Amino acid sequence: MQIKDLHFEPYLSQQSIQEKIIQLAETINRDQKGNDPIFIAVLNGAFIFMADLARHISIPSEITFVKVKSYEQLQSTGEHREFIGLEVPIEGRHLIIVEDIVDSGNTIQFLLKQLRSQHPASISIATLLFKPEALKHSIEIDYAGFHIPNDFVVGYGLDYDGFGRNLPDIYKLSSGE
Ligand code: IMP
Ligand code: MG
Repeated sequence: MQIKDLHFEPYLSQQSIQEKIIQLAETINRDQKGNDPIFIAVLNGAFIFMADLARHISIPSEITFVKVKSYEQLQSTGEHREFIGLEVPIEGRHLIIVEDIVDSGNTIQFLLKQLRSQHPASISIATLLFKPEALKHSIEIDYAGFHIPNDFVVGYGLDYDGFGRNLPDIYKLSSGE
């Protein structure tokens, strides 16, 4: 399978992804019962995962989406981030951040800091994919679908240079490229 200049090979089938999502949802339904949580899904990558997960969530809950903008500032060394789109008040609420993948953990670390400043009752993290070897922060992932090695993956919301998000399965970069 080719996307732009790169070759990818099948990695996680849509069936295995859907089975995993049902397990994750069952755990969340059990853990978060009575919490009336707010799912905060991180765009763009988490849009498909959030949509499929939501259909197996049976407890009262809200769903909202945020976007984390990240860009290198021209005149400084640090990377600047900001997040947009959070329209619901979160003070005193139970939050579940929903990500497609946790890689370095920089995005989650940034979001945790921002969300904590608004005093939610709790913050949990749900991610379909987790690359433990790449993690640069001490972050606890409450609901992780698949632990994967440090391979670059596409499909099921994840992109390579904007392409591949539409694929129902997940593919990894073919070795030797
Ligand atoms: P982190 O901040 O390094 O944890 O990376 C989080 C974001 O980087 C994810 O939400 C993805 O958008 C992107 N990302 C990390 N690894 C991959 C990958 O293997 N394929 C596609 N996108 C990735
Ligand atoms: Mg993302």
